[in-house]
Amino acid sequence: MKKIQMVDLQTQYQNIKADIDRGIAEVIESAAFIKGPAVNAFQQHLEEYLGVKHVIPVGNGTDALQIALMALGLKPGDEVITPTFTFIATAEVVALLGLTPVVVDVDWDTMNISVKGIREAITPKTKAIVPVHLFGQCADMEPIMEIAREHNLFVVEDACQAIGAKYYDTIEPGTLKPCKRIAGTIGDIGCTSFFPSKNLGCYGDGGAIFTNNDELAAQMRAIANHGCIVRYHHDFVGVNSRLDSIQAAILDAKLPHMPKYITARQRAAAYYDKAFEGNEHILTPGHCKQSNHVYHQYTLRLIGVDRDAVKAQLAERGIPSMVYYPVPLHMQKAYQDPRYKKGDFPVAERLAACVLSLPMHTELDDEQLEYITKNVIEAVETLKS
Ligand SMILES: Cc1ncc(COP(=O)(O)O)c(C=O)c1O
Repeated sequence: MKKIQMVDLQTQYQNIKADIDRGIAEVIESAAFIKGPAVNAFQQHLEEYLGVKHVIPVGNGTDALQIALMALGLKPGDEVITPTFTFIATAEVVALLGLTPVVVDVDWDTMNISVKGIREAITPKTKAIVPVHLFGQCADMEPIMEIAREHNLFVVEDACQAIGAKYYDTIEPGTLKPCKRIAGTIGDIGCTSFFPSKNLGCYGDGGAIFTNNDELAAQMRAIANHGCIVRYHHDFVGVNSRLDSIQAAILDAKLPHMPKYITARQRAAAYYDKAFEGNEHILTPGHCKQSNHVYHQYTLRLIGVDRDAVKAQLAERGIPSMVYYPVPLHMQKAYQDPRYKKGDFPVAERLAACVLSLPMHTELDDEQLEYITKNVIEAVETLKS
């Protein structure tokens, strides 16, 4: 059996080596390393793939979120709502800009931001919501957009884990319209990361911002370019955040494979779902009925068993697993705040104690999946209390 990894980027590379190598060689031969034609080509192809008017390539997903918030003209003290169960970058940029992160709980099944929690967190100072499409499925965007319209708020989607996920608007309960939009193109602005292990990952750091709004797009392009519209004339304080040409060429070679990659992840997830079905100690990821799932992560909730002991036993048998995320934002040392204490967000706190992400990537084969599922079930059986 091939060695099991959380993400197998080596095999993925071998399967598309010729295209990747050609893309990299073209950039090196042209010496257009920064803002070269490879960046423009990828930008245009990604706009087509997402069905969005503007893609702004930037240095990484954290920069994407920061630039998006900088473009909204918010003032220190303005409140921005984010889920407490997410990667730190979501709230980090809010804090860095002197805005006030307001954290809310998540839903037990989907692990995405709670719509009820958002409603309860709104105050006259609320200016934006940053829903995170955690682990690869969209947050409940239809009600989130309704709340935003009602209270005149911006919505910046953190789609760093969910590029390509589709969201469907309801016609009637239980009925789905054809695909309406793709993660990151529903709110005012969407942000993604091209970190190597992401569903569309480069071979270093990279990120992008999406919007259908011409004014915001122009503003964000300028912010990412030192606040500059006309060269060497700086209209406001910006940052330097660029996707370099080599990374763009790699992403452009991978982009046409996205539908196939998503199917491969969904197939592995279906294998996991079936193997764990009905096991009261192993809860598989719950589904938001209006989103599909592109499985950046396949995250179990382990019930009545010591999660860390299961993780250790799997490691002994050559199966890596990860805990995303062991500490919710409101319990992070750097984000201590008299407004929040342990116990305030019980779902996120319970998830932090019981989640375990299994290997998930485009190259998992049946032999590996069988070995992983058999060992997870065995570990849980041996260790349950
Ligand atoms: C939900 C979420 N937001 C933001 C980021 C930040 O992306 P990057 O690592 O490219 O800065 C990540 C990436 O790990 C993420 O998963």
